[in-house]
Amino acid sequence: MMADDVRRQYEVFPYPERDPADEADRLIAGSPSDPVEIDHYLFGGGRDWSGGFRALVAGGGTGDGLIQLAQKLAWAGVDAEVTYLDLSRSARRIAKARAEARGLTNIRFLTGSLLRAGDHGRFDYIDCCGVLHHLPEPAEGFAALRGALAPGGGLGFMVYAPYGRSGVYQLQQAFGDLFGHLPETERLSEARKVLAHLPAGHPFKRNPNLVDHKQGDAGFYDLLLHSQDRAFTIAEVVDTLTEADLRLVAPIPSALYDPARFVGPAPRLNPVDAMSTAERLDGMMKVHVGYAVAADDTRSPARGTPQSVPHLMGPPERIAAEIAGKGALAFTAQGRPTRVRIPREAAPFIARIDGKRTLSEIAGAEIMAAEMSFARVWPAVEEALTGWNILRYSGLPPV
Ligand SMILES: C[S@@+](CC[C@H](N)C(=O)[O-])C[C@H]1O[C@@H](n2cnc3c(N)ncnc32)[C@H](O)[C@@H]1O
Repeated sequence: MMADDVRRQYEVFPYPERDPADEADRLIAGSPSDPVEIDHYLFGGGRDWSGGFRALVAGGGTGDGLIQLAQKLAWAGVDAEVTYLDLSRSARRIAKARAEARGLTNIRFLTGSLLRAGDHGRFDYIDCCGVLHHLPEPAEGFAALRGALAPGGGLGFMVYAPYGRSGVYQLQQAFGDLFGHLPETERLSEARKVLAHLPAGHPFKRNPNLVDHKQGDAGFYDLLLHSQDRAFTIAEVVDTLTEADLRLVAPIPSALYDPARFVGPAPRLNPVDAMSTAERLDGMMKVHVGYAVAADDTRSPARGTPQSVPHLMGPPERIAAEIAGKGALAFTAQGRPTRVRIPREAAPFIARIDGKRTLSEIAGAEIMAAEMSFARVWPAVEEALTGWNILRYSGLPPV
């Protein structure tokens, strides 16, 4: 029944609202679903792409993750097949029109439940963004995706988190009780009227993190009228992955989950308690994004070797200039003003990052003095910038 409601919702309100004509002007990019990021977190930053790549986008919706993945793989010249799977035919129509607008030919479109993902093959990478929290038994969804992973494959996911969504769940329940018997479009108009009259002190009205309800009907419905929606603390993410025979490689960005953002020397906590503490202190996480692999797989995110190729999010010259001037880099991490200290002497090396040079080329192996200074500063650069997902390693060409 619930699964039917979910399917019907996404037939009437395919999400997110997208116009295929916009593909001419921009590519929507983010985490997960970026091939460089996937390489960094799941394949040690050194995947051999020449043997091809099979990916599944489970619950692909109107295509944001799908299009990013398929387009960047096509630009990089990877022989890839990306399979799109979703319950909603109207979402599929929009995703397909977006792919056609870009001339992408590396996508296979399927309609069906991700609970049967294994029927469609085994995949090197499975992307599941914003879907598993809409299943009556999310662990079953994770387990079905685990079953569809090829040996050595990995999963990129996003699920909702509770604290940044404060106010949402009591409204979903109230609107469900009041309007659940109405057709979708009437539910929407009735709920809009009620929302306009809620007191200013309502936790939803006071929550600055939530914007979906201001971005059209599908956004409003998805946020406040969903019939099947739950949020996970980071500890619950870890437990649910474990239940599904999976293991968290890293949440993204991992530095967000470090209590050192808030306290100096802190008592030693086990890794899950440390992430939970950071989540409680942060108070505004509305999603958890991360990468996972089979439970018995010991992989960790990439670390730099002389052969690693670093990629920067943002223009290297600008980042290098800021570091040279201030010994620090300031940026906004999911709405949080953030600043990390980076040694000034790292600036010339950062300026040489172009997504093609290896670390040994960046170090300038021919200049002994520079090489020594590189060895001294690079660990601090890597720690700070990979932690915030600003630096990733991958042999893929820059796109
Ligand atoms: C919130 S949208 C997210 C879409 C897309 N992944 C994104 O991030 O933009 C959730 C999508 O998951 C799909 N969905 C929900 N349950 C599903 C299931 N059991 N199997 C396949 N798709 C499902 C819905 O139809 C909907 O298109």
